[in-house]
Amino acid sequence: MHAIETESLTKSFGGENAVDGITMRVEDGEIFGFLGPNGAGKSTTMMMLTTLLRPTSGRAMVAGFDAARDPKSVRRHIGYVQQDITADEYLTGRENLVLQSRLCHMEKHEAARRIDEVLSLVELEDRQNDPVVSYSGGMRKRLDIAGGLLNSPRVLFLDEPTVGLDIQTRTRLWGYIKRTHSEAGTSVFLTTHYMEEADRLCDRVAIIDSGSIRASGSPSELKEGLGGGSISVSAGSRSEGFLAELGSLGEVSGDGLEVRIRVGDGTAAMPKVFEAAARHGVRLESASLERPTLDDVFISHTGRGMRDAGFNRRREHARMRRIRA
Ligand SMILES: Nc1ncnc2c1ncn2[C@@H]1O[C@H](COP(=O)(O)OP(=O)(O)O)[C@@H](O)[C@H]1O
Ligand SMILES: [Mg+2]
Repeated sequence: MHAIETESLTKSFGGENAVDGITMRVEDGEIFGFLGPNGAGKSTTMMMLTTLLRPTSGRAMVAGFDAARDPKSVRRHIGYVQQDITADEYLTGRENLVLQSRLCHMEKHEAARRIDEVLSLVELEDRQNDPVVSYSGGMRKRLDIAGGLLNSPRVLFLDEPTVGLDIQTRTRLWGYIKRTHSEAGTSVFLTTHYMEEADRLCDRVAIIDSGSIRASGSPSELKEGLGGGSISVSAGSRSEGFLAELGSLGEVSGDGLEVRIRVGDGTAAMPKVFEAAARHGVRLESASLERPTLDDVFISHTGRGMRDAGFNRRREHARMRRIRA
């Protein structure tokens, strides 16, 4: 059984396809990431998989059940942590979880045991009896994740789990996700627009842009698939001759002083950069070789960088609020 299996999954809003024919498989026990800029269709896909939105067409099987025909069974086997914090500020951390355990019809003793477990996983035992209003953003997110794990889901859905959190909190959350995954064998489907998150956390990723999957594979497969890497040099002076020689090694970008060259074989190209600099009397302040990043993968499949592709988040949120209101 696959954790998730979709076929031509599509959702249109007012005639426009926000999700445009997504076919994919997430293996059981895998951490799978949906990587794409704001507005790519990540949340819409996730809402269809979690039975909160009905697909316009296509099919989704989640934890072995058809999301459209058997949404109740799907909900019983999944956990869903949406992007915005959902915990009630006026209840304590524990009270929030108790409330949630009632909503999923958990038996009282079993709920109490499980609440202890998930609170310990996200390291909130000490603060469980404080009102959530006194929690930091990171603690609220941890509480939401504990809530998503309450019913020991087979598949855990996390929509942009670390947006707006500092790097320490983010690293800590990655740790909880990894632990849940390795201890309970939970499959995880997450969306993110952070390259590093996809790279560090996911077994496999799909790159999504404008509602469709542009590439998928393990982060290392995707990066190796590009081959080569880039050389970044910082030159002490501008020299047309030097730049022309760099141009013969690969595609050059930059302002003539800070230069980046996409090369096929970095190890072979690096000494040539030094030779060219010596020939043209250019003093190099620094030179480094970098393997392709997921950002390079994104660029090669979509023709632009993630940062350029992103929508204005605030404007998009305001728009969504108007639509939902
Ligand atoms: N309820 C809705 N009504 C109309 N348009 C929507 C609705 N939900 C999402 N969209 C549009 O669908 C596209 C994909 O949105 P979304 O799935 O939220 O992207 P992501 O999560 O990747 O940022 C966007 O252009 C968004 O404006
Ligand atoms: Mg989203």
